[in-house]
Amino acid sequence: MSLFFQRLMERLAEFWREGRAVIVSVAASPLALKFVLAAAALSAGAPTARQQPADSSSWTTAERATLRSLSLSSLGPLAPDPSNRVADDPRAAALGRALFFDTRLSGNGKVACATCHDPAQQFQDGTPLGHGVGTTGRRTMPIAGTAYNAWFFWDGRADSQWEQALGPLESAAEHGGTRVQYAHEIRRSYRHEYEQVFGPLPSLDGLPERAGPVADPAMRAAWARIPAARQTDISRVYANIGKAIAAYERRINVTPTRFDRYVAAVLTQRQPAANAMLSADEIAGLRIFIGKGHCVNCHNGAMFTDDHFHNTGVPTSSLVTNVDSGRAVGVRQAVASEFSCTSRYSDATADGCEELLFAVTDGKELVRAFKTPSLRGVTERAPYMHAGQFTTLADVIAHYDRAPAAPFGHSELKPLHLSATERRQLEAFLGTLSAPVAAPARAEPHRQP
Ligand code: HEC
Ligand code: HEC
Repeated sequence: MSLFFQRLMERLAEFWREGRAVIVSVAASPLALKFVLAAAALSAGAPTARQQPADSSSWTTAERATLRSLSLSSLGPLAPDPSNRVADDPRAAALGRALFFDTRLSGNGKVACATCHDPAQQFQDGTPLGHGVGTTGRRTMPIAGTAYNAWFFWDGRADSQWEQALGPLESAAEHGGTRVQYAHEIRRSYRHEYEQVFGPLPSLDGLPERAGPVADPAMRAAWARIPAARQTDISRVYANIGKAIAAYERRINVTPTRFDRYVAAVLTQRQPAANAMLSADEIAGLRIFIGKGHCVNCHNGAMFTDDHFHNTGVPTSSLVTNVDSGRAVGVRQAVASEFSCTSRYSDATADGCEELLFAVTDGKELVRAFKTPSLRGVTERAPYMHAGQFTTLADVIAHYDRAPAAPFGHSELKPLHLSATERRQLEAFLGTLSAPVAAPARAEPHRQP
């Protein structure tokens, strides 16, 4: 069962327990639609929404259900990734951790995943665009908790964490290397660790030091000269590098915040304790977040993301010349990808790939739509949006308040007409979503020999 499907089932179970529907996001795939219908069916047979009981809490029953759905306690265990059979193998995670920090996995020997995904900064870099061998066209995304996602990158062009990791390694702007180079590097430096997890490495005898299906014409030509069967062997080693890195990334997670402790207190009727955890402004901001701000339409669930793509009218970046159409292009790439869930390098059977098989690949709403980012830890993660277009959270909130027309495509937002006080309260609430990121202890970085 795909991660996404499993999550739907968990949500449904939760609805069942509560006898009602809570948040229903815009249906963007047939599966999501099924989910909406099922939730609606459940709520139809349930008692109508009850108003708040006359005791301690100032939240209605419906609001409490929303608070619960946003709290980390509703997250549930991480579902297996059927496309990666070593996803939960600790030896794979240890190898992946070493690879994540290893600058030898790059064209110039200077770039590792950690160059942009800095563990000291929630695994991102605090700049509008990422800087590796070159400069990327989008902002570096944080990694904590992304194992719960179905889609990766701002445009969701990868359908698994392991497929995602293979993108930057061969991107000229990021690591700038090639898969043949990386296979040699595994053989030289990680042979034992690799073979323990994945079995024997293929022979690399007689292969050039560098070659791969990358932008550089010389590298492409060298790759084209390698017989197809050997290409497949090398690509399998390459896929396994991604699977080991994903096993590590699965262990990078968010931890409970003041908001989660507040919700726990509210749900157990400890209102005085709850009121001591958040300030009056923060609580007012939370009300706006789930109420007139409509933020939970998209930032929902324990990770504050619906794992879907929306055009929110974010302006183009003055730092980027390319036109960025977001999901409209990303979904096509996901379907066509050499390393997708349905590819020969995936460990899943087709029924483990519903998310990809049912992906919406066409529609005006995909134009300039980007993945809803998690808001956990967001206060410490400026600048904001897919190319760092906004410098402060106040700028972000002002954008939602005004809801300007999109540079192209159609923005889903409507003006909110918040007062200056309400905007400040909303910002104060976002500050309650921060807590340290949990990650396996950092491996010693490998240096260029
Ligand atoms: C040069 C900086 C840079 C390097 C190096 C880099 N990344 Fe990224 N990372 C980014 C940028 C920029 C994005 C968003 C790119 C996009 O959407 O097109 C991103 C996106 C991601 C995401 C998606 C998160 C999500 O929520 O969808 C993950 C996971 C990730 N990177 C992991 C890695 C791993 C693993 C490596 C090493 C193999 C790596 N990155 C190397 C800059 C970098
Ligand atoms: C229609 C869906 C939708 C709604 C409603 C929505 N958001 Fe977002 N939010 C997004 C998407 C999509 C992005 C990324 C957009 C981009 O980069 O182009 C985003 C980005 C953000 C960011 C920046 C996070 C980062 O890491 O860059 C913040 C903060 C944020 N939203 C807060 C809010 C608040 C507060 C509200 C309510 C006032 C809200 N959002 C309403 C979809 C939505």
